[in-house]
Amino acid sequence: MADIRIHDKRFTPFITATEIEQRVRALAALINTDYAGKNPLLIGILNGSFIFAADLFRGLTIEAEISFIKLASYKGTSSSGHVVTAIGLEEELHGRHVIIVEDIIDTGKTLHSFLPGLQQRQPASVKIAAFLSKPGALQYDVRADYVAFEIANKFVVGYGLDYDGHGRNYPDLYRLKDADF
Ligand code: XMP
Ligand code: MG
Repeated sequence: MADIRIHDKRFTPFITATEIEQRVRALAALINTDYAGKNPLLIGILNGSFIFAADLFRGLTIEAEISFIKLASYKGTSSSGHVVTAIGLEEELHGRHVIIVEDIIDTGKTLHSFLPGLQQRQPASVKIAAFLSKPGALQYDVRADYVAFEIANKFVVGYGLDYDGHGRNYPDLYRLKDADF
C-alpha cells in the first residue's frame, strides 16, 4: 500500500481494512455474549464513529438499537470548566443498557466531560466501545470496555477518522509520517 497525502501532510499505511474487520467482528462477538437479552442501545458519537458504529452494529446478532449524537463542547461553569452536551439524544435512557461508540479515546477529555450528564438520565449501565485508544495520551480517568486497537500516540486517519475533514473514506487506517511531526 502506498502513502497518501491529505492537505499538507503525508500519511503511511498503519492497519489494514482486513485487520480492522477481524477486530471489529471480535468486539461484536463479545457484545453478543455480554448483552444477549438486554437490548442494548448503542450511541455513536458523530462524526468520527459512523463507520465503526455501522460495522460493529452489523456484527450484532442480538436484539439491539442504535442512535447517533453530536457532542458540543464549551467552557461552562462546572468544576472542570468544560461541559459537553449531546445534540440529538432523544431516546429514553432510563433503565437502558447503553454502549457509547467512539472512534478514538485520546486524552479522554471528551468522554470524561460527557459521561456525568449521561448518568443523570439513569441508564441501567454504560459501557464504552472505542475503535482506537491511545493509552500514552490519556489524561482523564476514562477506560473503554471494548477496544479494537490500542495505538501509539500518533495522529491517524481513515475508517471514519479525519484530518481537517478529509480522509474518513479510506477503508484502511493511516498514521501521520514521522517526518511531518
Ligand atoms: P479526547 O482527547 O477528548 O479526544 O479523548 C477524542 C477526539 O479527538 C479526536 N482525535 C483524533 N482524530 N485522528 C483523528 O482523526 C487522531 O489521531 C485523533 N486523536 C484524537 C477525535 O475526534 C476524537 O473523537
Ligand atoms: Mg470524534
